[in-house]
Amino acid sequence: MAAQIISGKVLAAQIKESVRAEVNTLTAQGIRPCLAVVLAGDNPASATYVRGKQKDCAECGIESKLLHLPAEVTQTELLRVMETLADNKDVHGMLAQLPLPAQIDDQKIIAAIPPEKDVDGFTPVSAGKLLIGEESMLPCTPAGVIAMLKYAGVPLAGKRAVVLGRSNIVGKPASLLLLRENCTVTVCHSKTQGLQDICAEADILVAAIGKAKFVTADMVKPGAAVIDVGINRGEDGKLCGDVDFDAVQQKAGWISPVPGGVGLMTRAMLMVNTLKACKQQNGLA
Ligand code: GUN
Repeated sequence: MAAQIISGKVLAAQIKESVRAEVNTLTAQGIRPCLAVVLAGDNPASATYVRGKQKDCAECGIESKLLHLPAEVTQTELLRVMETLADNKDVHGMLAQLPLPAQIDDQKIIAAIPPEKDVDGFTPVSAGKLLIGEESMLPCTPAGVIAMLKYAGVPLAGKRAVVLGRSNIVGKPASLLLLRENCTVTVCHSKTQGLQDICAEADILVAAIGKAKFVTADMVKPGAAVIDVGINRGEDGKLCGDVDFDAVQQKAGWISPVPGGVGLMTRAMLMVNTLKACKQQNGLA
């Protein structure tokens, strides 16, 4: 039997609708949530992602500020921009779109974000709180993955979860969130031996390695939940994920599509975090 499709489209729309309702209430009280996005250079993918964030803000009634800096911006200049946003009481959430130009130390820029405005959940404080299980701003993509699994009713507690990829943005935080849900978690990466067999034992498989159609049907346990975080261009030039969707769909119990899957959830969770940051900064949460 073909897998149940976990649509990011439907769930992201529901989440944004509830954010919009809360934003309307806040705005009526004279509080307008605001997200500032810093974009350095002209990476086309980054420009597309940033446009998506601005569109979501508009849909949710959140004010968005875009600070577009030249690709040659220096570390000192970029830090100054971050510090200005950090000090601006009207800005509730802020982020620097990654990747930053080569001359910039990403971690120094991220560390300039006050934890209360860290809507990406990338600062050392947010990452540390996630690690030790304290309440914190959760990274948007992993939070979206968990929301999709719960929405679809995938059993998590006690199940084997395998995360493909160990990035700070997705793989590592996703593994911690799955652990929090009482999964038994394995993280695989480019040096993992016997990756295929490890994947084939997973009840939940999260693919975040950035290789088009890397996960094939023989790597999937029958009935497993397969969440595809990848956004790649296939050989045909079409957008595709890290999972060979057509083949895996025949074997999995649940599968998320690309496009229309995790990407939309990442964007929706950014809206959730921006609203949360605004409420916290106004003593409302
Ligand atoms: N680049 C790719 N994904 C992300 C993200 O979620 N946040 C930021 N700031 N940059 C990214």
